[in-house]
Amino acid sequence: MTIGKKNLPEFHPQTVLRDWGDGHSFRLADAQTGVCVFGATGSGKTSGPAKHLAYGYLAAGMGGLVMCAKKEEAIQWQKWAQETGREDDLVIIDAKGTNRFNFMNWESERPEEGGGLSINIVHLLDEVAGAIAEGDKNAGGGNEKFWADALHNLNSNLVDLPILAKIPVSLPLLREIASSAAISFEQLNDEAWKKESACARILREADLATVDADPEVRADFEECKKYWEKDFPSLAEETRSSIMLNFTVLIRPLVTRPLRKLFSSDTNVTPEDTFAGKIIIVNLPVQEFRVAGRITNLCWKYCFQVAVLRRMQPVNRESFLRPVFLWADEAQNFVSKFDSEYQAVARSAGGCSVYLTQNIESLRRVLKNDDAVDSLLGNLQCKIFCQNAGNTNEWAAKLLGQRWLNITSTNAGSSRNESMPAMPQQPGSHNAGVSRGEQLRFFVEPSAFTTLKRGGEQHGFQVEAIVYNGGHLYANGKESLPYKLITFNQR
Ligand SMILES: Nc1ncnc2c1ncn2[C@@H]1O[C@H](COP(=O)(O)OP(=O)(O)OP(=O)(O)O)[C@@H](O)[C@H]1O
Ligand SMILES: [Mg+2]
Repeated sequence: MTIGKKNLPEFHPQTVLRDWGDGHSFRLADAQTGVCVFGATGSGKTSGPAKHLAYGYLAAGMGGLVMCAKKEEAIQWQKWAQETGREDDLVIIDAKGTNRFNFMNWESERPEEGGGLSINIVHLLDEVAGAIAEGDKNAGGGNEKFWADALHNLNSNLVDLPILAKIPVSLPLLREIASSAAISFEQLNDEAWKKESACARILREADLATVDADPEVRADFEECKKYWEKDFPSLAEETRSSIMLNFTVLIRPLVTRPLRKLFSSDTNVTPEDTFAGKIIIVNLPVQEFRVAGRITNLCWKYCFQVAVLRRMQPVNRESFLRPVFLWADEAQNFVSKFDSEYQAVARSAGGCSVYLTQNIESLRRVLKNDDAVDSLLGNLQCKIFCQNAGNTNEWAAKLLGQRWLNITSTNAGSSRNESMPAMPQQPGSHNAGVSRGEQLRFFVEPSAFTTLKRGGEQHGFQVEAIVYNGGHLYANGKESLPYKLITFNQR
């Protein structure tokens, strides 16, 4: 049964985004269960499947967040938006700072704030710290987990303190608290310190603000106080200065150019704007802006994910939320462990992720372990394979599965006694036969992925890809196949 687009309410999951011919299509429901595209460099990922899906997503009126790894991506999206009549919905985040988002204010000014507030800010700082560590692999000198945990602990207590004191959280304030914290037990009793230190002052304010509060909140305060009055001052000098250095390195990019204006001033764009159809392009490509580009993209990504997860489906089942996409070409620059957690629940909040990358290894390099990769890929149901080489092909072949094939083999042979001189008239003994048997074979052999068309003049501007969509079957003559070979036109 084909369901006509016209008869469906707006953003109905059965809305067809792309017609794949032969009665097959890619629907909104498929977009919501996530897509990932694999293919070697220059295999046609971007100009083939990515463009094909993007046109469908844009034409359907989705909002979205586009992370940028390459310089040309913003221009490409401008073109795609123009061609689908969506250019008025574009919001470009760039180094000039025309569009700004103070995520700390955004997070702490939420009226419906629950216990998640400090967790979200701290998690965001962890993501930024991860991006910095990734950009500086030689730093740390081993024992990375110890330093990451120590920094996380410092961040948690830094963020909790003003929240408990009910004062606005900002990066400069966090920096002030950290640099005015007592570094010895003597200092804790020093009158001058008590009078001048921001840390001491905010500790008093938090004490006052929580004295009659819910016991849970008061317990949080006691924990925080213990950190600032016992744990932090008793750290060995060397350890403390290393943690503080890591903190300074973490905060610095966010409070200096070009990011200060983007994240630490006022706000004129928020992730929720995508829910009204805006398409936010984070045009600080990693290729050009390096760590600052990654940080910007990751901050936007995390805040967008949090915003989507907070979204509620309308109670009335007759109407549907406007779906929003999270787009990551060269996704190895942007993946983090939170993505699979997000993707697992994003569907019901109308979140549609699209990740493009070369191969499985490029994800493994960043996520560090196989479980994290499996979990992410398990949550991106639609997998599109462009021309590729290496382990990803084996992985894809296994994913598509195997089937029993009737194999008919013929053999013919002859034997003769070699000790006798061969005589033309002497036939020896001959045998010939046909044997039939069943063999387990891949639907698509790993080698088949190596020869898919890669676009460009050489391939008539055609890009071929093998599409697997979480168990969908595609009719092929009398057979049903768990995949479909699709040819995309680059032009
Ligand atoms: N619109 C187009 N018309 C013709 N050829 C194109 C077009 N876009 C890209 N190409 C060419 O097609 C090939 C595939 O390009 P594409 O950028 O889509 O690959 P990709 O898999 O995204 O590569 P990468 O991993 O480098 O991003 C390249 O040789 C490219 O030069
Ligand atoms: Mg590309």
